[in-house]
Amino acid sequence: ADFFKTLAEKSDGGTLRGDYSLADENYVVAQNWQHYTEAQHELWRKLYRRQAQLLPGRACDVFIDSLERLDAADAIPHFDRTTEALQKATGWQLVAVPGLVPDLTFFEHLANRRFPVTVWLREPHEFDYIVEPDVFHDFFGHVPLLFNPVFADHLQQYGKGGLKALKTDGLKYLARLYWYTVEFGLIESPQGLRVYGAGILSSGGEIEHCLTNPTPRRIPFDVERVMRTLYKIDSYQETYFVIRDLEQLFNETAPDFTPIYESLKAQEALPANTLLAGEMNLPPNG
Ligand code: PHE
Repeated sequence: ADFFKTLAEKSDGGTLRGDYSLADENYVVAQNWQHYTEAQHELWRKLYRRQAQLLPGRACDVFIDSLERLDAADAIPHFDRTTEALQKATGWQLVAVPGLVPDLTFFEHLANRRFPVTVWLREPHEFDYIVEPDVFHDFFGHVPLLFNPVFADHLQQYGKGGLKALKTDGLKYLARLYWYTVEFGLIESPQGLRVYGAGILSSGGEIEHCLTNPTPRRIPFDVERVMRTLYKIDSYQETYFVIRDLEQLFNETAPDFTPIYESLKAQEALPANTLLAGEMNLPPNG
């Protein structure tokens, strides 16, 4: 189910949904909460309820615990109220945007601990499938982990790394890292694999598939391996990368990527379903 198609293809100049006419130079707009209709709040409630009941035993504890603090079960949330809570927890803020924003803008927001959240909500017929990120994906999928100090620091570093990658021609490698971690990452727990990636956590189908389906690869996280690997934009992922904990993600992405980018430029990219000789493929949850 995939809006990421647009994410991956926006550079091709396709038209984006959303009203960009009132955006400022950072693509920030007013959320205009009072403009959401009762029907939209009702759709949000349904999306939230369906997704929330899928979380136990599938989402990582950090996500589940933070989601409860958001108080977003009954209506589309006020971003400003969430920002107040976030500021106290990790110093992050939410900014409202019309939709996808340019890479430079995106990285600048993250580097300054601002998370851009799309203002519009999908239509009822897009309940299960949406081709661009909407407020449900951005808010429900991404915001809970921003309450975790380690993840919060990681995402800021990612933003800074993005600004650097723009200058060193590393963007496609860094995009693969984001894809396979922030959007589609799995994490170990004492009870088995769990999800921390927002693209899975806001999806009605992939959240079960990624944990229990025997077909996809589940490979221990390795920065360079992830950055070499192509991804699927219009189907479930063929490979998931598994971190031990959020500290591993933070620590292993901390070194300067410049030499890794240079080494990757000399290598062929790996197809999404690759399993290299000797590589571990973790078993699905039973
Ligand atoms: N260490 C990375 C670099 O040198 C920056 C980064 C940190 C990228 C965290 C992604 C995540 O570019």
